[in-house]
Amino acid sequence: MLNLEKRMKPREALEVSPFDTGVFTWKMNTRSIGENEWLQVDDCRWEDLSLKKKGTVGNHLEGSESTSLKLLQTIESWLTKRSFTLPIVDDYLHPIDKCGRLMQEDVCLMERISECWTLTAASVCFPTHWDPFSKIGLPLDGIHEPVPRYEEDLTPRPGNFMDRISDEMIVARTGWSLTACSDLALDHEKQMVEKDPSELIVRVERQTLRRIPNSDAIAFTIRIHRWPLRVIRDDDDLAKDLLISLKQLPDEIKTYKTETVKLSPMVEKYLNT
Ligand code: HEM
Repeated sequence: MLNLEKRMKPREALEVSPFDTGVFTWKMNTRSIGENEWLQVDDCRWEDLSLKKKGTVGNHLEGSESTSLKLLQTIESWLTKRSFTLPIVDDYLHPIDKCGRLMQEDVCLMERISECWTLTAASVCFPTHWDPFSKIGLPLDGIHEPVPRYEEDLTPRPGNFMDRISDEMIVARTGWSLTACSDLALDHEKQMVEKDPSELIVRVERQTLRRIPNSDAIAFTIRIHRWPLRVIRDDDDLAKDLLISLKQLPDEIKTYKTETVKLSPMVEKYLNT
């Protein structure tokens, strides 16, 4: 059961509408945000933290400890400056796992190795149908290999963009999908059950990128937001944008966003009535 009263509403959580209403192409969609907006803490913090896997979450490349430790210090200082209590975490954990235990976001460490931004460590408990283990050690293009049109629409811009992220810069971007499952972790194939369309979930990933102080590394955070469709319907502009966005999905993407495509007739009908 999603406790919506205690969770951030779409307009609080997102800088702009996550739905792209232009002709479909994957976009960089990055926006600068302030230090205060880097991480998002709501009244479900402790509940979400309790759902994170205990112990070691992912695997890590050797040598990723020292930069992960710098990231840990950055997160601890961000939280304590804003008077958030730090949970007690097991001392034996890799520092990236400690990072993940402190915040509602998942986090990936990207290090520049042989000119390529490479995933060297990750604490991902709430993936949207991807396997963090299989991505460790991969460069940016390899991570995105399953995404149709990524190469033609985006490469080499994401890597070039990451090269240009300066110390003071923090950026956010979003991705979205439709799902019948309200779990935070979509790491399993769930049988789709008949659901009242108002309860279908609009799942939005709010991602941020920032350079880790004194390093050649970038922290990539992923915060999952889930809103039942009725919440989107209550916001005329968001509902309109979602409808347009669904219509624009090209065939190549339909084999990738399979659940979104399966649910879209139901969603369109509900939003149009
Ligand atoms: C500015 C940089 C980036 C851009 C523009 C970008 C863009 C995208 C896009 C367009 C998708 C398809 C999303 C969708 O379904 O809506 C995607 C998926 C994904 N991205 Fe990125 N991304 C960026 C950085 C990263 C980084 C740093 C990571 C690090 C782990 C990452 C991990 C992923 C993963 C795991 C997926 C899902 C891939 C799969 O289905 O196997 N992205 N990204």
